[in-house]
Formats: sequence, C-alpha cells, structure tokens
Amino acid sequence: MGIAEVALHTMPGTFTGHSPASSLFLRTDAGGRRKRNTNLFYRKFKGTPKFPGLRSVERQCQRIDDLAKVIEAGNGTWDKDVVNKASQVLGDVSVPGQVLGGNINLNGNATKPLPQRQKVSSVEDEAWDLLRDSIVNYCGIPVGTIAANDPNDSNPANYDQVFIRDFIPSGVAFLLKGEYEIVRNFILHTLQLQSWEKTMDCHSPGQGLMPASFKVRTIPLDGDDDATEEVLDPDFGEAAIGRVAPVDSGLWWIILLRAYGKCSGDLSVQERIDVQTGIKMILKLCLTDGFDMFPTLLVTDGSCMIDRRMGIHGHPLEIQALFYSALLSAREMLTPEDGSADLIRALNNRLIALSFHIREYYWVDMQKLNEIYRYKTEEYSYDAVNKFNIYPDQVSPWLVEWIPPKGGYFIGNLQPAHMDFRFFALGNLWSIVSSLATTHQSHAILDLIESKWSDLVAEMPLKICYPALENQEWKIITGSDPKNTPWSYHNGGSWPTLLWQLTVACIKMNRPEIAAKAVEIAERRIATDKWPEYYDTKRARFIGKQSRLYQTWSIAGYLVAKQLLDKPDAARILWNDEDAEILNALSTNRKRGKKVLKKTYIV
Ligand code: GLC
Repeated sequence: MGIAEVALHTMPGTFTGHSPASSLFLRTDAGGRRKRNTNLFYRKFKGTPKFPGLRSVERQCQRIDDLAKVIEAGNGTWDKDVVNKASQVLGDVSVPGQVLGGNINLNGNATKPLPQRQKVSSVEDEAWDLLRDSIVNYCGIPVGTIAANDPNDSNPANYDQVFIRDFIPSGVAFLLKGEYEIVRNFILHTLQLQSWEKTMDCHSPGQGLMPASFKVRTIPLDGDDDATEEVLDPDFGEAAIGRVAPVDSGLWWIILLRAYGKCSGDLSVQERIDVQTGIKMILKLCLTDGFDMFPTLLVTDGSCMIDRRMGIHGHPLEIQALFYSALLSAREMLTPEDGSADLIRALNNRLIALSFHIREYYWVDMQKLNEIYRYKTEEYSYDAVNKFNIYPDQVSPWLVEWIPPKGGYFIGNLQPAHMDFRFFALGNLWSIVSSLATTHQSHAILDLIESKWSDLVAEMPLKICYPALENQEWKIITGSDPKNTPWSYHNGGSWPTLLWQLTVACIKMNRPEIAAKAVEIAERRIATDKWPEYYDTKRARFIGKQSRLYQTWSIAGYLVAKQLLDKPDAARILWNDEDAEILNALSTNRKRGKKVLKKTYIV
C-alpha cells in the first residue's frame, strides 16, 4: 500500500469514530458565536429581516466598539506591545511603519543582496495613496479594501465589494508596513460572516464556508425612518456570476491569520475561542469524507481566483496548494485541547497523502512527459504505472514543443483519464511557498518560468495560465464565454497581482532576482496604464478588454513585491517550511512501497 493509500485508509476511521461534525466543531463558544442559530432565532421571533444579518450587525458594531476601546485605552500601547511580541517571534522588528529588517532567511542563511534601489519611487507613492483610498470602513473602523476603485466606472458590478482573496495582498502590504489594525479587523469581521444564513434556491452552503466577498450597506434603522445603520452583507456565491463557491476564501483566511500573528507578534487573535472555532469549521468542511478517491480537495469549476467556468473543476492545483498551506498553518495555530486529537490526526494524514499525491502525479518535466508519452493504458491492477489511465494522445503538440530541457511544473488538474497540462501560475507559485513542492521541484518551477519568460511574463507579469484555450476547446470548456476569449482574462490573460506570490516564491528559493526583473517590467507601465486588473494578448501588450482600472490587488500585489524585495526576510510570514515529519513519512513509505510492489498481484 502506498503512502497515499495508507493515509486515506487511516483517515476515515479516526475521523468518523468520534463523530466530529457534532461534537468537535459545533460547540457554542464563550463568545457566543453561533450566528446561523442566532439568525434563525431572529427569523422565528421577529420575522424575516429586510436585510439578512441586520440584528447580528448591531451586535457586531458593539463588538467593534469594544475593540476600539481596547486600542484606545492603551493610549497607543497596543502597537508597542505588539511590536515587542513581534521582536520575540521574528527577532528583528522595528517601530510600526517600518517593515521587518535583516537579510537572513528562515534557515539562517543570508539571502542574496539585491542591487540598491531607490528608496521610494513615485510609482510606489502613488500605489500607497491608491491603496489607502480603497479602504472600506464599517462602524467607523477599517475592515477591508474595495476590489476596484475607478471613479469613472459607472457600473462596478461586484467590484465595489471587499473580496476575501483580493484583500490578502492588501492585508500583507499593511502588515509589512506595521499597520496591523485593518488586518485584525478584517480577520474578525469575516469570521463573523462565516456561518451566515445564506441560501441558493433553498440550499445552504456548508457551515464554515467563508464568503467570496462582502459589502457594507447603509440601511434604515428598524422602526426609525430618520436613522440609518451599517450592515455587512456577505456573498457566498449566491449572487456571484455563475453561482460559484469560493472554496479558496477560508484557506486564504487561515493563511492571513497566521501571517498576522507572525508579523505583528499578536497571537491573541489566533488564540481566541471564536477564531479557533472558525479554523476548525474550515478544516471540518475540507476534511469531511466524501466519495472521492484522492486526497486532493474536490471542487466545482470556478472555486478560486479563476471564478468562472474554465475547465478547472475536480482537483485544481491552486486549491490544493492553498489547502496544503492552510493545513500546515492551521496546525501551527490550533491550541491543543481535549477533543482536537482526531482533527489533528486527520489533518496530519491528509498532509502526507496530499503531498505524496501532488509530488508524484501532478509533476511533469521532460522525462516524465516522455514516460506518459509511452504509457500503456487499460491497466487493471494494484500497481499500474498509468494509475489514472491517461491516454498518451493527451500529450498535445504544444507541450512537446514547450517543455524545456531544464525545469518542470505541476499540471493544472488530474482526474481519471485526464491530465490538464496547462501551466497555472498561482498553483505552482503557492506550491513553492507552501513547500508542497520539493526543493528540487521548486527550483525547477522557477527554472521553467525563467526559460519561458517570453510566454509567461513577456510585457506584463504574470500569465494566469498557459496556454489559452482556443477554438472548439474554448467553446466547449468555457461555454463560449466572451470574457474568457483566448489570451484574455482567465484564459491566458496576464495578472499583475500575481507579482506578490512570485516574489514570495523567489525569495523562499533565494532567487529574488527573478521577481525583481518581473517587478521592473511591471513598473514600466502599470501606473501609466492606471493599475489594470489584467492584460490581454499572447505577450500581454494590451490592457484587458473588460479589465477594471485601479484594481486594488494589482496595486497591493505590486506593493508587497516591492516591500519584500526590500526586506526579503519578511517573506517568512507567508511561507511554510518543509515539514520534517511529512518528509520522513514519505521516504519511509516510498521504501515500503517499493518492497510491496515487487510482490503485487496483477490481475
Ligand atoms: C474576478 C477575479 C476574481 C477576483 C474578482 C474581484 O472575478 O476572477 O479572482 O476576486 O474579480 O477582483
């Protein structure tokens, strides 16, 4: 039995044995945080509110006031305390307003010094102004950033909302600047939205799902025509185009929560009972048994940054990399308590199975492609080489030409008889950041980016995926989506926001010069072009057809990249180190697996 199978077989027993769904996660906490029930309560006794969540919001404002008082009462000492704690955690933190210093990476090695750059460029100044202008306040405090802030856009659709995934680079930019409050508020407010009563045609999403986005609405106060109040209105996908489920939101939330603690030194947020419950609810949703044979997370199309139909249903790489990162981060933050042992066991088993599965089956390079090209098919046996019954014809002509002699990457998706060979940037970069990729694979991914620079970076970093779907494939796979035409938007468009993930990955592998080169290319035109959401054409020459301008995560992505290149050491708040236990389990089981293979019974 391979390690993947070992983990898969161990997990269900340990997990279901203690009925975790009811006992582990759904306990009411000290903070009384059970909004789904609270909402039901109000529906029953007060009738359906005009706006969902109206009642709970009054409570939230109260909570925020309390939070504000805590900060105020400290006369600014909160910031100092936080910095002191940060110093203990990270070793070298200066006053708020300055980012972490030092050129030492997590292994204690000196990171490569970069050529001295200008201290503050005007592009950077503009970006900071724009980022601050995009801040959204709720009950008088900052809670997020609006997705796009173009004053000339008369039809913003949902770009006037705070998207969870879009806020991550904003949050990181603020953290690195020493401005922690907005991130703390964002974490706590989105947590409040986590189990909101939201339905689509009478069906509610799983508890623990984080919304894709939320909006602050001002509505008339019940029973008082002259007064108004603010409410937070989340969208879990029930209003989103295509009704897609935002699987990545909760995973990003966990990643940001960890980064907040690491950067600010304020571990009190992650230690709160309601936050611990929130983490567990996300984990529960992800670790629940289903029909799936694979340790990868099974999702519908459009469940992540690519939030439209693009043929990424099943087990897309981006979700797997975020899932892995969130599992590692959650394990770091969960406070040990009676009753969480099963969860930790399930989590550990999943980590091992997931890393084995992705490293073994998603990886392609020249040699592996050649193996696939020569695959035998229809193998009914326990030790099939071609486990997923991939027909060699899937190795399409573009790939034969494209794969460089040096370098490799993780494919976009793996299903029975299907390998999606497209290169997806975010999934590959976050596999490096989370150590889902081995060190060798991580370097190989960066080698590939370097050798395919004119395809992946060209005139604006970075292609969201490569290559584009064209002709019949575009028609069938996207449903003839006019926004996702070849080399536009999600279908081979170029997204400046991806700069920050590229930068973290490059710094982790001690190759920051690759990211620096990409940032320099972006800098040539991004501000003049008004910070577009994405670029079109094969070489990213045009601002995208329907691209929003003053897109916040393009601005924040650029800022994070700049901040990190200045202080590479700070990138450690985002990456996960290779876990020694996982590594051990993998190598032990590989050895065992080999012995087993010799004796395998072939039907
Ligand atoms: C688009 C992107 C999505 C992003 C949203 C708001 O729908 O595909 O990833 O979160 O815009 O910017």
